[in-house]
Amino acid sequence: MIATPAQLGPDVEFVGVHKRIGDRVLLHDLTLSIPRGERVALIGPSGAGKTTLLRLCGGVTWPTTGEVRVLGQRTGALHGRALCRLRKQIGFLHQHDNLVPGLRVAHNVLIGRLGQWSLWKALWSLLRPQEVDRAAGALQRVELASRLWALPEELSGGEQQRVAIARLLLQSPRLVLADEPASSLDIRLGREIVQQLLALAGKDTTVLVSLHALDLLQLPFDRVLALRDGAVVFDGPVKSITRDLLRAVYGEEYQRLHLDDVDLVRNGGA
Ligand SMILES: Nc1ncnc2c1ncn2[C@@H]1O[C@H](COP(=O)(O)OP(=O)(O)O)[C@@H](O)[C@H]1O
Ligand SMILES: [Mg+2]
Repeated sequence: MIATPAQLGPDVEFVGVHKRIGDRVLLHDLTLSIPRGERVALIGPSGAGKTTLLRLCGGVTWPTTGEVRVLGQRTGALHGRALCRLRKQIGFLHQHDNLVPGLRVAHNVLIGRLGQWSLWKALWSLLRPQEVDRAAGALQRVELASRLWALPEELSGGEQQRVAIARLLLQSPRLVLADEPASSLDIRLGREIVQQLLALAGKDTTVLVSLHALDLLQLPFDRVLALRDGAVVFDGPVKSITRDLLRAVYGEEYQRLHLDDVDLVRNGGA
């Protein structure tokens, strides 16, 4: 198959992106490029602009000035069906509340297939779930096969996140955006969730994860983007992150987040 120019470019590209709401500057002059298959961690103190950056990548908000290109398309130029088509290729995982309450796990997972189903098949599936074997297979991969017919409220926070990952497995998105997916979980469960997300990355899938707990940087990220006050202040491999950099990035939050205790040694940091 001959690759089109859009397929050859990076999966995410920001050129001179500013995002303002009223007189508030959320992001300031961002230029960056994320090639296909990369596993990127997004770090920075609260209010730095991580969620805003992910939302721009997801085509749910647009730059005030500058250009955001996602999967080869300029998001600002898309409307209606073209925008829906782009969003179907993107999987978004939030901190919590990723599941539809009152809808059994099987249906919540099958939402990952809605992009491929007709309206009728989707409606019929609510009465007679379609492709249940696919949902069961995805749940097996996150070790939740036995919870196929459970309701979200019967699951722990960690299990709910795993169901959301099973949904991503069925969706097979080209771009996975996860906004602090581990921050409401304890460190061990959080690590598992981020590990599973990173395992989705490959030759066809790019993964961006914003992190609250920096211990998770020990997972196999290819690259870290650190934001502060809406600007990228570091862009490089985990091993180049030093304590001085973390102090500069996190400022007052450095002590509160116990960043002195974060083990950077394994990654070669000082
Ligand atoms: N809808 C909005 N209106 C005004 N300010 C906003 C809005 N959304 C976010 N902000 C502000 O933009 C900044 C960046 O927010 P956000 O992207 O949520 O940061 P982070 O995810 O790193 O905590 C914060 O100062 C926040 O208060
Ligand atoms: Mg946020």
